[in-house]
Amino acid sequence: MVRRNVFAIVLLVGLVAAGSLTLTAAEENHEHSHDDDAIHEVKNVNVTIFNETMQEPDAFVLDVRSEEEFNKGHIEGAVRITSNELPNRDGELPKDKEAPVLVYCNSGRRSADVANTLLFMGYENVMNLEPGIKGWVKAGMPVV
Ligand SMILES: *[C@@H]1O[C@H](CO)[C@@H](O)[C@H](O)[C@H]1NC(C)=O
Ligand SMILES: *[C@@H]1O[C@H](CO)[C@@H](O)[C@H](O)[C@H]1NC(C)=O
Repeated sequence: MVRRNVFAIVLLVGLVAAGSLTLTAAEENHEHSHDDDAIHEVKNVNVTIFNETMQEPDAFVLDVRSEEEFNKGHIEGAVRITSNELPNRDGELPKDKEAPVLVYCNSGRRSADVANTLLFMGYENVMNLEPGIKGWVKAGMPVV
């Protein structure tokens, strides 16, 4: 009789433990699926979308080229910060991680790297001008 009770208790404890493990696993899965919702990607955009988005009042346009390249012609209002400078100048980026950050370079390659860094820094709305400022100029868009 006593042994039976002990067995029943062990079984009960085991079931409860298994139940809470299952529950924990379910919670973890739930958290993961929630995280998936929050995964953001760089949007590679063309001149039209870049131009439209940069009109938004909280948009930040980032030129990642050298000073020499920048001085030859850049998009009006762009702030020039290279990928090397970014760690020390992150204070110049928008405080709001949801603000559109529009990145460009000459051909869209350097800016793609910086765009990924920005995502890693928590920016949720990062756009890369895919054809670069070359494509921008080719489309007849203004530079200053
Ligand atoms: C840019 O992309 C948008 C949406 O994908 C499209 O509607 C538009 O025609 C494209 N513009 C150019 C210049 O290719
Ligand atoms: C750029 O955006 C502005 C504001 O939305 C618009 O007036 C202008 O026509 C656009 N230019 C091109 C070439 O899409």
